[in-house]
Parts: sequence; C-alpha cells; structure tokens
Amino acid sequence: MNVRTLRPADIPAVAEVEKIAWGENAATPETIARRAAVFEKGSIVVLDGEVIVGYAASQLTDHISTATWSEQTDDGQIEKSHVPSGSLAYGVSMSARPGISGKGVAYHVISHYAEMYLGGGCQALCVGSRVPGFAKWRAANPNATLQDYLKPLDDGRSRDPEVRLYNSGDFRVLWGLPDYYPDPKSRGHGAMMVRT
Ligand SMILES: CC(C)(COP(=O)(O)OP(=O)(O)OC[C@H]1O[C@@H](n2cnc3c(N)ncnc32)[C@H](O)[C@@H]1OP(=O)(O)O)[C@@H](O)C(=O)NCCC(=O)NCCS
Repeated sequence: MNVRTLRPADIPAVAEVEKIAWGENAATPETIARRAAVFEKGSIVVLDGEVIVGYAASQLTDHISTATWSEQTDDGQIEKSHVPSGSLAYGVSMSARPGISGKGVAYHVISHYAEMYLGGGCQALCVGSRVPGFAKWRAANPNATLQDYLKPLDDGRSRDPEVRLYNSGDFRVLWGLPDYYPDPKSRGHGAMMVRT
C-alpha cells in the first residue's frame, strides 16, 4: 500500500470511501476539497495499487481541548481551526473501505502522519476518538463513568475497539471528552488521544 497527498482528481473516489465509512455523516466532495485547499499536505489517500482504499484529513493547531469535534475542527471544514504555525497535528477524519487486507488503512495513515509531523518538528499527534463500546458497557455497569471506561486494562490497552485501534498506533488517552461527536454507541462521548 502507498500513501500520498490527495489530488483534486481523487475527490470522487474519496467521497465514495467516505460514504461507505460514514453514511449520512460522510464528508461531501466540497468539504474534502476545502480541507485540501486550506492545508494541502494534511489530506492524504491510501492506495492499494491504483485503487483508493483510505482517506484522512488533518490540521495543525496550537491547542487541544475538551470541546466537541465540530468546535475543534470548524465543523470539519478546518478553515477557522487550522493554525499554520501550530505545533500540534490534529486528526480531523479518517475513512477506509472495509475488508482491507494486511495492516489496514489506520496503520498506514498513522505511520505517514508520524513521519511527516513528528519527523517534521511537531510536538504531538492528537486525535479525538469516539468510544463506540461505551453505551453497551454502560448498560452493564450503570454506575460507572466515562473515566472508569477509559481506564486501561492490564495489558495497557483500552476496552474500547476504536480507542484500541489508536493504542495500536502508539496513542494513549489524555482525557475523556464528555460531548465529542453525536454517535449513539458512544453516547456522544470520546477520548482525546496523543502520540509523541
Ligand atoms: C477506522 C477505520 C479507518 C480503520 O480502518 P482499517 O485500519 O482498515 O481497519 P479495520 O476497519 O479493519 O479496523 C481495525 C480494528 O479497529 C476496530 N475499530 C475501528 N473503529 C471502530 C469502531 N468505530 N467501532 C468498532 N470497532 C472499530 C475494528 O473492529 C478492528 O478491530 P480488529 O482488528 O480487532 O478486528 C475504518 O474502520 C473506518 O473507516 N471506520 C468508519 C469511520 C471511522 O470510525 N473513522 C475513525 C474515526 S475518524
């Protein structure tokens, strides 16, 4: 698999991948184009041969917070949230075609960003993860909190499948995000994660 910066001609294929991964919450072709126009090298595609199997967008920022995804990314448009002089790289969105064999799209995206950003002088890679295992776990543990859920298990990894995906990319949880993204399985919660 190869990773490279998104080109305008990639946009229809990327929009298709977004639709498969995110359904009605997919980034539109206009949003995909705007992110790349605001910060060209932050938008990347993952290719299996000639076929686009993954997409990710990122921005630079000078701070991270407990605010919602929408607030931290200018509703995914990054026009107002991208800070060219910022030393923190922030993951705005990632999507993949299902059933990618081998190491998967997330592995290639994280490796690319780690080399580009951490190798290029950024202090940290940051991402807000949803916590799609939370609603089910909470139903079985009605008195427990998001903090309880986010405590690492004995092997140092999370009980949540999406947080664990980022754990595999050497991210650790920094803090819980009570109101991050309107995902029912996460009950709207998330986790701010960093890799340094
Ligand atoms: C996240 C994503 C890009 C990862 O793609 P990938 O690296 O090719 O790998 P997979 O889709 O096989 O997922 C890898 C692992 O993460 C888990 N995972 C990732 N996101 C998950 C989620 N939202 N809910 C449940 N499990 C999830 C998968 O179950 C899988 O676990 P396994 O290896 O134990 O089977 C892809 O799953 C996707 O597009 N998901 C929908 C959009 C999304 O959640 N994006 C991430 C937040 S921006």
